[in-house]
Amino acid sequence: MSEVEVDLRGVADFTANPHPYYAKLRAAGPVHAVRTDDFDRVWLVVGYDEGRTVLADQRFGKDWRTLPGQVGTGDPINANMLEMDAPDHTRLRKLVAREFTPRRVEALRPRVQQITDGLLDAMLPAGQADLVDALAFPLPMTVICELIGVPDLDRDGFRRLSNDVVSPAGAQEEGEAVRAMGAYLAELIEDRRRSPGDDLLSALIAARYEDDKGLSPDELVGMAFLLLVAGHETTVNLISNGVRALLAHPAQLAVLRADFGLIDGAVEEMLRYEGPVETATFRFTREPVTIGSTRIAAGEPVLVALAGGDRDPARFPQPDSFDIRRDAQGHLAFGHGVHFCLGAPLARMEGRIAIRTLLERCPGLELDPDAGEPDWLPGMLIRGTRTLPVRW
Ligand code: HEM
Repeated sequence: MSEVEVDLRGVADFTANPHPYYAKLRAAGPVHAVRTDDFDRVWLVVGYDEGRTVLADQRFGKDWRTLPGQVGTGDPINANMLEMDAPDHTRLRKLVAREFTPRRVEALRPRVQQITDGLLDAMLPAGQADLVDALAFPLPMTVICELIGVPDLDRDGFRRLSNDVVSPAGAQEEGEAVRAMGAYLAELIEDRRRSPGDDLLSALIAARYEDDKGLSPDELVGMAFLLLVAGHETTVNLISNGVRALLAHPAQLAVLRADFGLIDGAVEEMLRYEGPVETATFRFTREPVTIGSTRIAAGEPVLVALAGGDRDPARFPQPDSFDIRRDAQGHLAFGHGVHFCLGAPLARMEGRIAIRTLLERCPGLELDPDAGEPDWLPGMLIRGTRTLPVRW
């Protein structure tokens, strides 16, 4: 059993800028045993090819409850497809994918534009704003709530809970948030069961698989949780990290302003350069596996650093330069393999509409020079800041 090579726990500037750490590790090899806040020892994959391979390789499992000696927490929100393997993963994904088709997503386009316009109408007169608060958070939150059928959600309360689940201040906060969220969603599902609407949650309650079985009560809670949290905790940071990158690179901003036809490629570069998901959710080896020249025993946790792969010079030349005209396709920001992000088309649409409309309506947009240092979210899952102070 190898010892820990690098201790990332408590490294102050790792949260603010992990890229130099990933680069240093990558130069020494594609996979390393590291210590993080969450793991005494985890195998961190920092190379692009190796990361992509791990994400698509069924020898790396997700359902940690199948590991010897593990017992489930019993929290229904853990009964979600991102924490499952085939055949349960296949069944759950098929049920939701059926209700979450590209056509259904495309039909949301006018509404996404309308919500964006409304948020900008409210924001623009002030001359300055926290862009996270004014646009990047409320847009994806409103969209996912409307899609699932959560019209009157207490959004501030939900935002706090959701933040505590993905970037917890501590284990206690995380546990409390998970329980509160589970209870909230169970109530909402009961409500929809009694009075179904024309929404995704009602469709999921009614959905039946090939064997004519529907989702269990826990699976419904898990699904609603995954969609709600994955639907906004990530997209908020696509918008805010993307706008920050643009404002920090005025020449790139000028190129985009001169030709908004470049917006699709620009958003792909934003995802590659500073994607919202820093490391994929953890996997474990079901059997002994060799990555590069490193032999990993069975039952070991493995983290794929998407942010490491997406700045691998072997895949993206000059990876630390932000270039909206580069071909960023093939980036790992949405993951890869069977767990590839279900919401990628929706996230892309929201990101493109939000950023383009913001720039069109705000010709003088700039970072607020009085804002101080960005407040990066703790943890290695989500890459983003709590606020993005801007002015125009
Ligand atoms: C820019 C925004 C987004 C990013 C960067 C992102 C990223 C990711 C990544 C990296 C994964 C795979 C994680 C892993 O393999 O460990 C994933 C899975 C997933 N995402 Fe997203 N996501 C985004 C937006 C969304 C949205 C808007 C939704 C839903 C409406 C969504 C729903 C999901 C679901 C359901 C899964 C699990 C799929 C499965 O297990 O088969 N995501 N996402």
